[in-house]
Amino acid sequence: MSDLALLGGDPVIRAPLRPYRSMGEAEKQAVIEVMDSGKLSGFYGSPGPEFLGGPKVKAFEELWRQRYGVAHAVSVNSATSGLIAAIGAIGVSPGDEVIVPPWTMSATVVAPLFYGAIPVFADVDRRTFCLEPNAVREAITPRTRAILAVNLFGHPAPLRELVGLAREKGLYLIEDSAQAPWAADEHGQRAGTVGDIGVYSLNYHKHIHTGEGGMCVTANADLAQRLRLIRNHGENAVAGEDVDSLVNIVGFNFRLPELSAAIGIAQLNRVDDHVAARERVAVRLTEEAQNLEGLYPPVVRDGCRHNYYCWTMRFDPERLGVTRATFSAALAAEGFPHAVGYVKPLYLLPLFRQRVAFGRNGWPFTPTSQRYEKGLCPVTERLHEHEAIVFEPCAYEISEGEVAQLGDALRKVHRHLSALRKYEKASAEKRA
Ligand SMILES: Cc1ncc(COP(=O)(O)O)c(C=O)c1O
Repeated sequence: MSDLALLGGDPVIRAPLRPYRSMGEAEKQAVIEVMDSGKLSGFYGSPGPEFLGGPKVKAFEELWRQRYGVAHAVSVNSATSGLIAAIGAIGVSPGDEVIVPPWTMSATVVAPLFYGAIPVFADVDRRTFCLEPNAVREAITPRTRAILAVNLFGHPAPLRELVGLAREKGLYLIEDSAQAPWAADEHGQRAGTVGDIGVYSLNYHKHIHTGEGGMCVTANADLAQRLRLIRNHGENAVAGEDVDSLVNIVGFNFRLPELSAAIGIAQLNRVDDHVAARERVAVRLTEEAQNLEGLYPPVVRDGCRHNYYCWTMRFDPERLGVTRATFSAALAAEGFPHAVGYVKPLYLLPLFRQRVAFGRNGWPFTPTSQRYEKGLCPVTERLHEHEAIVFEPCAYEISEGEVAQLGDALRKVHRHLSALRKYEKASAEKRA
C-alpha cells in the first residue's frame, strides 16, 4: 500500500509556499520621492537635454553601468523592447536571418520579425538548455546577420564559443539575459556583457524588478546611441548626414518611467542579496535531488554562475518506467509546486507554422526561408514533451525547512515508482 498523496495518503507539504517579495522600505521611499517631485517621466521625443530621460532614469543607467562594469547602459520599458531595439541597432535588414533557440520566451524569437528578418532555430544543449554551438554553426548561411543567445533559466549560454563564432563569421552576438541578471561565464564575466548587446528584464517575475522594465548594455558607443534613438522616436533626433545613420532609426516609445527607474535603483542596490537568496534555495534543492536514478537536477558548466530563475530538472521516462505526467501529478499532490515542459518549441507556434507575421502575405517570411516543422530541434522537443520539470525559485520565499520538505516530497514520489507504474497502468486500462 502506498502513502502517496496522489493515491490518498497525506501530502508532505501542507502549507503553500509564500510568494517571493523583493520590494522593501528603500523602494517605498524611492516611489514617494518621485511622487513628491511630480515628474513621472523626464523624456521628450525630440533633440535636447530631455531626449535621454529624467534624473532617475539617468541615475539608474549610471548605477547599472558601474555595477556591471560596462561602458553603456540604456534603460527600456521591457526586455521585449530592448530586444527589438537591439535587433534594430545592429542594422538588421529585411531578409536577414537571426539564429535563435526555440526554447525561450517568445519575445526573443519575434524580435527579428519587426525588422523583416527571419528567425532561424538552432537546437539547445540537453544539459544546460542553452544554444548548442555546433547547431548554431550549421544554421549559419550567407544571410545570417546575428546570433541571439539566451542565458536560459539563469545559466549563461556558451558565450565564449558563440562570440568566437560570431567574430569568425562577421556576425553580431546579442544576449537575451532576461532571466540571468547576475550570472557569470567561466571567466567570471557577467552574462549579458559578453556579446555586442545584452538585454535584461525587470518584469515582475524576475529576481529584481520594476513591475515592467528592462536594460540594454553594450561596450560600443555607436550601438548605445542607436539603442537610445530607437528607444525614443529617433526619427526626430537623428542627424542623418548619411544613409547608415538613418538605417532602422524609426523609433518607438520604449522609455522607462521615473517611478520604475527609482525602484530599479533600490532593487539594483540589493541585487547580490536577492540573487544569492534564490541561488541558495536552488543549490540546496539540487543537493536534495542528488542520486535519484532517472532524475537529473540542473547542471552548471564548470566555473559559471547560475542564477536559477528556474531550477529545471530532467526526467528520464524510460529509466523511471513512468511518464512525466504521472510523476508530476504525484509531485503536485505532495504539494511541490512546479510546471512541466516550459514552453513548446517556438517554431511550432501558429505564427511560424503558418508563416504569417505581419499582413496577409506572409511578410517577412520568404519562400527560401526556414520551414518550421516538428522535428526541427529534437533535443528541445524531447525536453518539452517528456523531460523538463521546472521549479521557480523566483516565485517563492523559501526557508531552509521548506527546501528540505521539497526534497522529502521528491524522494517520496521517487520511492514509490512501482505504485505509480501500477496506477498508470490501471488508468490506461480504464481509459481503453
Ligand atoms: C528569456 C526572456 N526573454 C525576454 C523576455 C521578455 O521580458 P519582458 O517581459 O521584460 O519584456 C522574457 C520574459 O520573461 C524572458 O524570459
